[in-house]
Order: sequence, then structure tokens, then C-alpha cells
Amino acid sequence: MCHRVGVGDKPVVSEEMRWWAFQPAPGETLRLALERTIREAVLGGALRAGVRLPASRKLAADLGVSRGVVTDAYEQLTAQGFLVTHGRSAPLVAALARHDQPAPATASATERIQYDFTASAPDVSLFPLRRWLTTALKAAQAAPSAALGYGDRNGHGALRAALADHLGRTRGVIAGPDQIIITQGTSQAIDLVLGLLRARGARRVVVEDPSHTGQRIRILHSGLALVGQKTDEEGLIVEGLQADAVLLTPAHQFPSGVVLSPQRRRSLLEWAIDSGGLLIEDDYDAEFRYDREPVRAMQGLAPGCVIQLGTVSKTLAPALRLGWIVAPSQLAEELAFHKALADESSPTLDQLALAAFLRDGHYDRHVRKARTVYRARRDRLVKALDAELPGFQVRGIAAGIHVLLALPSWLDDKAVARSAVKAHIQVSPLSEFCLARADVKGLVLGYGQIHESALPSAVAALADIVRRHMAHNSGGHPQPNESHWPQDLQRTEQSSSTRSAA
Ligand SMILES: Cc1ncc(COP(=O)(O)O)c(C=O)c1O
Repeated sequence: MCHRVGVGDKPVVSEEMRWWAFQPAPGETLRLALERTIREAVLGGALRAGVRLPASRKLAADLGVSRGVVTDAYEQLTAQGFLVTHGRSAPLVAALARHDQPAPATASATERIQYDFTASAPDVSLFPLRRWLTTALKAAQAAPSAALGYGDRNGHGALRAALADHLGRTRGVIAGPDQIIITQGTSQAIDLVLGLLRARGARRVVVEDPSHTGQRIRILHSGLALVGQKTDEEGLIVEGLQADAVLLTPAHQFPSGVVLSPQRRRSLLEWAIDSGGLLIEDDYDAEFRYDREPVRAMQGLAPGCVIQLGTVSKTLAPALRLGWIVAPSQLAEELAFHKALADESSPTLDQLALAAFLRDGHYDRHVRKARTVYRARRDRLVKALDAELPGFQVRGIAAGIHVLLALPSWLDDKAVARSAVKAHIQVSPLSEFCLARADVKGLVLGYGQIHESALPSAVAALADIVRRHMAHNSGGHPQPNESHWPQDLQRTEQSSSTRSAA
């Protein structure tokens, strides 16, 4: 047991490092005791490399010893290699070669990725950092000091009001600010909805097959039963649906890119009304739509049975960790309770910044700019795929920041992705997102992280790998321009080779 007892009975501790028990052993001088205490803290890992120690005058005053005791101890520790001193500045803890630390791993192929087709990653270099910071500063300065206390658990009123206006105008959402709960992205929103479902005795949550792997893990982790429901070229198949809730991506199915057809929307809403089931609409990239008018959020068609989830992870940056739930009125208060259980409330200053960003039109301007950039990339990507892999279907091109390159169902898409990583290309195989389906294969190609000018060479390098795998495995199998996907996933749009990407 360690006592904070120093000379005599008085605790002797540094003001800045109150955990120090600076206690000379019998016969030990103050200088030796101090030297030993610091050395042990460095060796034990509490004082980490690069940490600055107090100036000798300050530490001497804190410990009630003469300054010479501290300077002598610092000099000894410097000579022994535990501290580094530069001129007259206070010493820094030196970086020691520690034997208990694992050797740094050698760079893997993943660390040397040259072309990153990760599906869900936006181009964060587009983030208007300066504009965000000036808006955040102004918003924080204008806020009363009470804003620095604990915030409302459902989110700051200014942001909820700005979002209610914004979502009504851009997505046809029908909700007042009281129906909105601010979250840390869609990820937390899903956790909160799952918590609510569990508390209400739900057992079964249906997801689309294929769907987002991370979201499925959240459902499994919540203890609710996870069930996959097939999707086709119209989106989720409603027939035979049995669930307490359905999590879906109607505006741009993740990862196939399909837009839920009007007929299916109607059937799903009828299912929800008849069965009392809840629809959880993940509206993750609806802002990026290129060739057709944006489809309205399902929430706007049936606000009583749809929970809409939104995020700024695609439009601004995932690092902001800002998202929202739009809930039916009767569920909003309960969801706010689950939010409070999770983390009390989201950071208020960031919420104020987003509220001002929306209100002042910066958000709309940024989305317009990003849409132009992504559209040009999408066109370049589709053109390059048409040139390099003629006859292969490219799906889900009308929206979002990824497309799906369909591969023949006899090809092992995971093996293709592994070969790609060896060639320093990051790409996700479609089968990674599938629950029960073994009949669809493909590569999910995000274009958020590859500049337009690099896309032709990225696609050429990837196409080489696809062709190699095709050549090794094609014996007797149909070629890609023949019907190679099951009928239910055949694309109804024109084929990629006849499509104009412009
Ligand atoms: C299908 C889908 N929904 C939502 C999100 C956004 O998640 P979050 O808001 O937690 O960053 C992503 C991002 O990867 C996604 O792919």
C-alpha cells in the first residue's frame, strides 16, 4: 500500500502530478528519492515519452524542497537517458527502447494501398474546414454560457429545429423538432433504436440481404434475432416478411445501389400498418443523386410507422459523428431516454455549428459542390469500367458514392478482392455483405477516395486482376455478357456498354 506521506507526516506531492508518492526511504536523500520516483514512473509507463515535466523551480516549490534538489535529480536522469533537456526548458521524458512493448509491425500490403475503393468512405478532403471552423466559432460565441452545461438529451433545440426545416425541404420528411433525437452518427442511432425495440419486447429484426456488415453486428450484439430478407432489382422483397422491425436503405440500397420501387414502398408501408411493424429507414447518402429526381424519404409517406436515420458522415465528414433519428411522436421521448443512457447528450458546440451551417446555407452549398465532384467521378468510373470490362454490369450508378460491378456467380469475389489487396487496391467483395445468398458476386466500388484523374489507372489495374481470375476459372462457365446473375438481380436499366455515363 502506498501512502502519500513525505517528509514528516505531510503529504508531499507535485501540484501537477498529485498521484506521486514522494517518500524518501530511510537513509535516502531527497535528491535520490526524487530521482528514483521519476525513474520508476518512466519505467512503469505512467510518464510517457514526450511528456514535459514541471520546471525545476515549480516542482521544488510544490514539493517543498530546494531547487537544487530538483535540478540535480533532473541532471542525473538526463545523464541516465530517462529525460531530455533542451536549453533552459523543462525536461521531456525520453523515448526508451522498452522490451515489454511489441515491435512495430512491418508495413502490410493494406498499409500501402494505392487505390482505395472502400464503399462507404467519402472524400474528406472536400470538407470545408475553414468555413466549418468560422461558423462553429461564431455559433459558440453567440450562445449563452448556459450552453456549456449539460445539453438536452434529445439534442440542442437549434439543431433539431434546423434539421426539421432542412429534412422537410430536401427529403419530404414530416416531423417537428420534438420528434428529432441527435445522435453520434447512424451507428449510435441504430443502437438506440435497438435498445428501444428490446425494451418493448421485440424479438426479430429483418435486414436486407445483402446489407451493411457493421449494422448487422450491432443487431446481433443487441441480443435481437437477425434475419436476412432477399432484395432484387426493385429492392427488398416484401412477400413473406415477418419481423418486429425492418432496417432498410430505400433511397440507395447498400451495397447493391438499387432504389426501392414505388410498388415495393407501398407494399412495405402496407405491411407496417397491418402488422404494427416498424420501418427503420437508413437515409445515408440520399443527397447524392445524379440522373433522376431524388426519391422522397419513406418517413414522409407514413410518419407514424417509419423511423428515419440520417447522418453527415457522407455529406460532411464521418469524424463529426453527427447524425439524427426522426421518430414517430410516441417513440421520441423513449428514444431520448436511451440516448441519455448511452452518453447523456451529444456535444453541444458541434451541434450549434451544424445548426448554423444548415441555417446559413453552407450545408446546401457544400452538398451541391460535392455532388458535382462525385458525379464527375462516377462518370469517369463507369466509362473506365465499360472500356476495361465490356459486358460487365455496373449497378446502382444513379446515386451515392459507390457502384456495384457484378461478377459472374461462379467467380470467387473474395479471392478477387484478396488479389486486389496484394496489388495495393482496396475493394470489398459483394459476398462479404451477404447473409445467406451465395448466388450473387461482385465488387463494391466506392469512388469517394480516388480522384477523378486516377480512376482510369485504378480501374485498369483492377480489371487486370478480374480478367486473370476469369481466365483461371472460366472453363465452361458463361461469359459476363451472357446472363450471369440470377433473374431477380438482372438489371432493368440499359446495359453498361450502351449507357452514356455523361
Ligand atoms: C449503409 C450505411 N448507413 C449509414 C452509414 C453512416 O454511418 P455513421 O453515420 O455512423 O458514420 C454508412 C457509413 O458507412 C453506411 O454505409
